[in-house]
Amino acid sequence: MTAASSAASPTAPIDAPPHFCSGLVVRPTTPAIGADLFGVDLSKPLSADEKQDILDALHTHQVVFFHDQTLTNAELSAFSRLFGEPQPANESSFDKDEAFPEIDVLAFGGGRRPYNTQELWHSDFSGRAMPTMGSVLYCLEAPSAGGDTIWASGYAAYDALSDKMKAYLEGMQAEHRTIKAFGDDIRSNLWKDEKGRKRLQELQALPPAEHPVVRTHPVTGRKALFINEGFTERLLGVSRKESDAVLGYLFEHTRVPEFQVRFRWRKGDLAVWDNRVTQHYAVSDYTERRVMHRITIRGDRPF
Ligand code: SIN
Repeated sequence: MTAASSAASPTAPIDAPPHFCSGLVVRPTTPAIGADLFGVDLSKPLSADEKQDILDALHTHQVVFFHDQTLTNAELSAFSRLFGEPQPANESSFDKDEAFPEIDVLAFGGGRRPYNTQELWHSDFSGRAMPTMGSVLYCLEAPSAGGDTIWASGYAAYDALSDKMKAYLEGMQAEHRTIKAFGDDIRSNLWKDEKGRKRLQELQALPPAEHPVVRTHPVTGRKALFINEGFTERLLGVSRKESDAVLGYLFEHTRVPEFQVRFRWRKGDLAVWDNRVTQHYAVSDYTERRVMHRITIRGDRPF
């Protein structure tokens, strides 16, 4: 047993009401974003009530955390389909499990430097015309300290903007580019070998995507700020200077701690988040091994 897996399990407080009819217990982590969910074994087929309750919790809290799960790749893949259709893990995986092409194996530390999201706030695949709806991340091995993930709520960030800024951003589009995140110096060690150079060329060839700066969630109808430092290159319809200044403000604004939740991983934890209304940051402060299986869910065109 690793030090991480022997740590005490987060437990639901006894006075936490089972908010949902399936018996699922939801304990919000912060008022703005995040909730721990208890009382469900994700390795088993879920009832219709459990499925609906998990979706409702995700739509309300934007990122939900399950604990003490033991899942095979097949069970992880089956669970992820609750949220939609998985997309092939072809963007960031260098250790793909051929039997499950939808599973990204994110294995770092233990001599392998974390690279994929280092120093990078992002919403998964927002550089694409149809960014992913959400992501499922399952922890197989956690460092004894470090390797946390932080999420920020696009709802909370939008709600806290001034009315004048909301009016300015209304209807504005922004360009997102995958290469912005993956082509920079921090990740240059990735591109040294033949495989890496080929991958860099593929990323450079991807066309930019245009998305609304303020996005409406298709289920909740709520508005969220939809820019992220990793992929958002510039605001459209204004000068580069104006774009840099406004985006710089919005990137800083999103980092306000009140809009965030920080999660410390233990083996058996699983997070699901909604990429349409959140962005996240994988903290690259660990040297021990950290092994995660990630499945990203296909999304639709933001509006
Ligand atoms: C991701 O950026 O999708 C992965 C986050 C993490 O490894 O914590």
